[in-house]
Amino acid sequence: MKKHIAIDGPAGAGKSTVAQKLARRLNYLYLDTGALYRAVALYFWQNHLQPPEIEGLPFLLSNIKLEVSWEEKFRIFLNGREVTEDIRQPEIDALVSPVAKIKEVRDYLRAVQREIALSRPSVTEGRDIGTVILPDADLKIFLTARPEIRAYRRWRERKDKGNNIDYKLVLKNVLMRDFIDSTRDNAPLRKAEDAIEIDTSCLSIDEVVEKIYELVKN
Ligand code: DC
Repeated sequence: MKKHIAIDGPAGAGKSTVAQKLARRLNYLYLDTGALYRAVALYFWQNHLQPPEIEGLPFLLSNIKLEVSWEEKFRIFLNGREVTEDIRQPEIDALVSPVAKIKEVRDYLRAVQREIALSRPSVTEGRDIGTVILPDADLKIFLTARPEIRAYRRWRERKDKGNNIDYKLVLKNVLMRDFIDSTRDNAPLRKAEDAIEIDTSCLSIDEVVEKIYELVKN
């Protein structure tokens, strides 16, 4: 059995749902690394810090304590307070990509991610897990889907939560985030050479989970 699984890909490719289902099936830890970046972005927002120019950043980062738990659902704590819901606010959606571009933030979170992911068998989901965070992962998966499909999934998710947002706006955001995430100098979103690419455009969640589960076992 492969112990450390890396799942990367752009927003809306189905990473979270797939990674969580897979982790449950394998009884592995699930780590949502986007949530760690979001928690740091929330810390910036709470302290009125504007990226990228931030004085005393290493000191500020040394004051952040991040913890996660994976039981009935994935939860995240910033300096002892649960922020699982707070990190999904639109303000944080807008702030997280610029925050994730900062080298000091990525270096700090690299250590946090490795410590959590290597503490036990795990499924770690993000953008640079196979390339930078766990280059030694036992299995690397790169999930993709056409932008229109990814935007549609995001739009559906929001609509199901009672948030009536314009589809065109969601598509614009998806394309914008793809651009920022894949063109940044530091650890851009890209497929690791030894990753297996799965296009989820025409597959159900269960089909994708099944495919990866077979790869974990063999
Ligand atoms: O997966 P998500 O949408 O919650 O991620 C939020 C942002 O964090 C995303 O715009 C890019 C960044 N991110 C990253 O740079 N590296 C990761 N491993 C995970 C997320």
